Amino acid sequence: MPEVTVTRRLTFNAAHRVHNPALSEAENDALFGKCNNPNWHGHNYVLEVSVTGEVSEKTGYVMDLGALKRLVNEQVVDRMDHRNLNVEVDFMRGIIPTTENIVVACWRVLEPAIRPARLTRLRLWETENNHVEYEGH
Ligand code: NI
Repeated sequence: MPEVTVTRRLTFNAAHRVHNPALSEAENDALFGKCNNPNWHGHNYVLEVSVTGEVSEKTGYVMDLGALKRLVNEQVVDRMDHRNLNVEVDFMRGIIPTTENIVVACWRVLEPAIRPARLTRLRLWETENNHVEYEGH
């Protein structure tokens, strides 16, 4: 059977502060600039979730994208949407909320939850110009 990758796009918005508490204020400012604003700032994030598998003879699907949407909402999006990533999201606790770290944290929650389907890529957009990808390596 042919293997196909299917992708669902979801959006959320969240506040954060990119800050490393182990560094001085001056170092944080030099490294993170306005992203280090102590009074937070927000982004409209876009998360693309890709699942790879064989096309089912019965359904013609790799995975029902409606079911994938519900699962991703429940596992990560609803837990981050309209939240502060530094203080309110349990799976982000103690993690500097850069886009890189958010995508890895989302993977750790989603990958086991999506099984037996196979999560093969997460792409997280923080702005129209910046995005990161993670394939679980
Ligand atoms: Ni930011």
